[in-house]
Amino acid sequence: MWGSLSLLLVSALFPARRAAAERCPRICICDNIKRHVMCLNKNLTEVPITIPQVTQKLDLRGNNIKIIPGGAFLPIPYLTHLNLQRCNLESIEEGAFRGLGRLIYLNLASNNIAFIYQESLDGLSSLQQLILEKNRLEEIKPGAFSQLGFLNFLNLGENFLVYLPDMVFQGLQLIKWLRLSHNALHVIATEAFAGLPALRRLSLDYNELQSLPTEALSRLSGTTRLDLGHNPITYISEEAIEMASLKQLFLDNMALQDVSHKAFVKSPLLHTLDLHNNQLQVLQPLTETTHLKKINLTGNPVVCSCYMRPFKEWMEKARVQADVPCASPDAFRGEQLELLRSVDMKCGGPALEAEPLPSPAAPRRKPEGDVKTKCPEGCTCSPDFQHSNCENRGLRKIPRGFPTNTQLLDLRRNEFHSISKGSFPSLKKLVSLHLQSCKIMELQPGAFQGLQKLVYLYLSNNNITAIDKAAFDGAPQLSYLYLDHNGFTRVPRGAFSLLPNLFSFHLQHNSIRQLSDSDLAGAGQLRWVYLSGNHITRVSPRALSPAKMLEKLHLDENLLQEVPTGSLRGLPALSELKLSKNPIKCIGDGAFLPVAKSLQHLYLDSLGLEQVSARAFVGLGPRLKSLYLENNKINNVPDLRSFTGLEVINLRDIPFHCNCQLLPLRRWIDKLNLRVGATCGSPAEVRGQKVKLSAAFQSCPGWRTEKASRARPNMVKAKIKADSSPSKTRRSRKAQGRGTKRSKA
Ligand SMILES: *[C@@H]1O[C@H](CO)[C@@H](O)[C@H](O)[C@H]1NC(C)=O
Ligand SMILES: *[C@@H]1O[C@H](CO)[C@@H](O)[C@H](O)[C@H]1NC(C)=O
Ligand SMILES: *[C@@H]1O[C@H](CO)[C@@H](O)[C@H](O)[C@H]1NC(C)=O
Repeated sequence: MWGSLSLLLVSALFPARRAAAERCPRICICDNIKRHVMCLNKNLTEVPITIPQVTQKLDLRGNNIKIIPGGAFLPIPYLTHLNLQRCNLESIEEGAFRGLGRLIYLNLASNNIAFIYQESLDGLSSLQQLILEKNRLEEIKPGAFSQLGFLNFLNLGENFLVYLPDMVFQGLQLIKWLRLSHNALHVIATEAFAGLPALRRLSLDYNELQSLPTEALSRLSGTTRLDLGHNPITYISEEAIEMASLKQLFLDNMALQDVSHKAFVKSPLLHTLDLHNNQLQVLQPLTETTHLKKINLTGNPVVCSCYMRPFKEWMEKARVQADVPCASPDAFRGEQLELLRSVDMKCGGPALEAEPLPSPAAPRRKPEGDVKTKCPEGCTCSPDFQHSNCENRGLRKIPRGFPTNTQLLDLRRNEFHSISKGSFPSLKKLVSLHLQSCKIMELQPGAFQGLQKLVYLYLSNNNITAIDKAAFDGAPQLSYLYLDHNGFTRVPRGAFSLLPNLFSFHLQHNSIRQLSDSDLAGAGQLRWVYLSGNHITRVSPRALSPAKMLEKLHLDENLLQEVPTGSLRGLPALSELKLSKNPIKCIGDGAFLPVAKSLQHLYLDSLGLEQVSARAFVGLGPRLKSLYLENNKINNVPDLRSFTGLEVINLRDIPFHCNCQLLPLRRWIDKLNLRVGATCGSPAEVRGQKVKLSAAFQSCPGWRTEKASRARPNMVKAKIKADSSPSKTRRSRKAQGRGTKRSKA
């Protein structure tokens, strides 16, 4: 209002406009009627200073500006549109756009910007569109966009983003479309998309995702369109997409071999599903996805045999418009599934007789023109999708001769016993290597040599007990290492010195007895460590300190008798600590103090806890989002009032003693808008009652005054809620479990 008023005043002053005309920079073109200035492709090294003050649109495309200093646009405060494409921009200094409170469109595409600092975008309080496409961004820090409360479109396509941390888009209250296409994203933190209530469309196509970020996506309850095409995902599991408003889902050009028929049941409004160009041979009917009206399966090696009959019958009955051309058998090649007669869809050939699932001998998509394609005998290679598969072929030696563009190699369930030096020659593009359940006992030095691009290495379910330091020599990009379900009795030491990028380390279900001082030496980039299900009795005070970036630490199902407080020092980013199912009887003062500033999720369930000190949680506060305390033997809990940011709290199966000492807890629960699950365990007459509803407190001093001030209808509502099921807590834990499960096996 004030803005447009002053603008009116300025334009009403005719002399001001004439003065403006005189100020046009010599090499620019100024249209003073439209208040538009263009200085295209002029090798300008800075923003010209003589631009008319009343200018609203400034086009500086194709210059050579490199740095935008603070306050660069202060002389032209009426700008609404600013275009800085192709300006060789490298740096945007603090306050660069200060004063541009009217700017609604800012285009910074095709520059060399590597960092966005929070202060870089200061002052852009009206901005609606921000284009950062084609820059060099590798990481975005939470808060970078927090000033942009009016933004509705953010384009971060074609950058080098690998990881999205929690709350990275915080503050974008009105954003409708977030474009992250053509990056290298392979990890999305579970809260990365938290706080985006208006988001309707999310584009994540052309990234490196190997599994669906189910939990992160579930935060997007209003999003109607999701683009995920061109990610190397092989499998969509049950309930993989949990998005309440989703209507259009694009899963094209991935590497899908299987889609669970329950994959989308948690997205009840799904209308259009695009699966074109995948490796699907058979699909089960998606009967529970009742709003589905369109499905596209072109470019899949669909086998129109009896196994596709249920799908065909379903699509006819549910009136789904399905584009499903058959790839085999030969007689039906190219025919639309809907035009076949069910009775003609037979299961004859020996290849398909034995098992209902697709046989590996199914036709390749593009046999012609691809004669040079090589593939070891007995394996299937799909050069179009850069996948090679020799799962469960009884192999005893790693085969040679895969297509050199292979990105995913699946060798699960063979019998290799040992991986010798140079087992994977000329697989320079390999990103993901599956060696689960291969009876491997030994990794020789140089076993993975030459796998320069390897990011994911799956060695779960083998018999490895030790690893030679040099085993990982030559695979420096390795970020995800799965060594769970092996025979380790200690952390394989020195493993990290050759793995500078290790991000996630899975060692659960081994027989590790303790964590010692230099176990994690060199693990400076490590963020997630999984040690669940070992025999750990002790964590030495400096065992974790080399992993300074640690965010997630799972120590559940071990033999710890106390919270390893001392070992948590020097972990400023730790946000998730799981200690469930350890024999910890007692938690003392300040047990979590070293990580109190960062901790968000704390698992203390099923410990057999008998005593928790009143100051056990000191330091923890509004940051804490989930607290699991269920299934313990305590009969009261410390004061939880400072936990104002809780989203999940579980107090089930704790034998609360419902007397007046518990009144503060009861009061706290009354005010809380969450399901808590607390039940009285004693005294006998109230056993089994919900703490929230129990009458046990009515005679306590102070009860009446408190109640009098509360509105009656609230109580009724609370009752209905407490009685209904299923519980939110349980659901969200399940989701969490799924989030960490990364592969089909
Ligand atoms: C811009 O600078 C480059 C090299 O410095 C030169 O080749 C080019 O002719 C200049 N273009 C203009 C429009 O001045
Ligand atoms: C299915 O996808 C293919 C490939 O993008 C496209 O050519 C075709 O028109 C689509 N079919 C329908 C019915 O939209
Ligand atoms: C290998 O591990 C499996 C289970 O992980 C176990 O049953 C088997 O005995 C082990 N074999 C050897 C030779 O250690």
